[in-house]
Amino acid sequence: MTKRWLFILPALLVLPAALHAGMDMGGMVFEVKIRTEKVGTVTFDHTRHGADCNQCHPKIFKKKNNSNHATMKAMEKGRSCGACHNGKKAFTVAENCATCHAGDIVYRNPDAGAVTFPHTVHIEMFGCEECHPELFKARRGANKATMAEMQSGASCGACHDGSAAFGVADDCESCHAM
Ligand code: HEC
Ligand code: HEC
Ligand code: HEC
Ligand code: HEC
Ligand code: HEC
Ligand code: HEC
Repeated sequence: MTKRWLFILPALLVLPAALHAGMDMGGMVFEVKIRTEKVGTVTFDHTRHGADCNQCHPKIFKKKNNSNHATMKAMEKGRSCGACHNGKKAFTVAENCATCHAGDIVYRNPDAGAVTFPHTVHIEMFGCEECHPELFKARRGANKATMAEMQSGASCGACHDGSAAFGVADDCESCHAM
């Protein structure tokens, strides 16, 4: 093999892996996944936050994934994301939960029409802890249940029992696309 190939081959092997991991050539990660204990992962998107690194690093965030944990209470007092997401510089952490945490979620199943779980509607009615992590692990696809199990109170059936909310035994079209 020529010297040129010794240089190009490793580059060809590494580049797709780097792109797949969400990195650009400079090593900056576009999307950083911040892990919480009970309510899943929050994706922080660098590309939506401008190129002025000093706005955030190192004063608000150390440049290392999952090394800047803060509670929502602390954010409401101006820490972490709350330094800007205070309703003045950017939308507030005191509302807009689904914008940072998770939007609506689609379940696909070969035996029935797709179900769109309207996360946003439920977040307006309930605190996260009503559902996470006991009833549902906060990870898409991590909570399988059959309709029979739901009718005995599992998953959506914990509330959709025909009294707290419309029931899983009848209103199929309220959840499934037909
Ligand atoms: C609006 C705030 C903000 C701006 C501006 C910003 N960052 Fe970040 N950066 C973050 C946050 C939040 C994290 C995640 C920290 C965590 O996970 O604890 C992060 C993480 C990082 C990491 C660590 C990634 C990892 O996987 O460990 C690097 C590297 C980084 N930023 C580089 C940059 C560079 C380079 C710029 C400028 C081009 C920049 N950041 C601009 C907020 C920002
Ligand atoms: C600007 C983005 C943003 C908004 C808006 C936001 N959060 Fe968060 N939230 C985060 C991030 C980032 C974390 C992870 C913090 C960490 O570990 O450093 C988090 C963590 C949490 C946690 C776990 C930590 C704790 O405080 O118990 C809960 C619960 C939570 N958020 C609920 C909410 C609720 C409820 C709302 C709406 C009232 C909301 N969040 C709005 C970004 C946001
Ligand atoms: C230095 C200020 C600053 C910090 C710190 C900051 N943001 Fe932002 N963020 C902004 C601004 C400004 C916008 C755009 C204005 C708006 O949407 O209100 C924005 C927009 C967003 C959006 C909407 C992006 C879109 O799709 O339009 C999300 C989601 C978000 N930020 C999450 C976060 C999270 C999570 C953190 C903390 C880990 C954070 N931000 C920290 C300033 C900041
Ligand atoms: C009424 C129940 C309910 C409430 C309340 C609720 N969630 Fe969820 N959440 C779900 C369900 C159902 C899923 C999908 C789980 C699956 O696919 O197995 C989910 C998924 C998630 C995911 C994973 C998203 C993904 O793309 O992987 C996150 C993160 C999350 N929820 C955060 C939150 C936060 C933060 C709150 C409060 C602001 C909250 N949830 C309130 C039921 C709820
Ligand atoms: C409250 C919302 C809701 C209602 C109402 C509902 N479903 Fe479902 N259904 C779901 C969800 C969510 C899934 C996917 C569950 C999973 O993948 O973990 C599902 C899965 C299914 C499946 C595949 C799993 C299995 O049990 O075989 C079938 C078939 C199904 N539903 C049929 C029905 C029929 C028929 C009705 C009406 C009698 C109905 N569903 C009412 C939410 C609902
Ligand atoms: C913590 C209780 C709770 C859980 C768990 C829950 N729901 Fe709901 N859901 C409600 C309540 C309460 C309403 C509003 C009352 C009603 O419409 O009967 C509602 C309304 C809905 C609606 C109608 C939304 C609208 O726009 O009017 C859909 C669709 C729905 N739920 C689907 C689901 C699916 C799918 C699951 C499981 C993945 C689920 N829900 C789990 C309590 C819950």
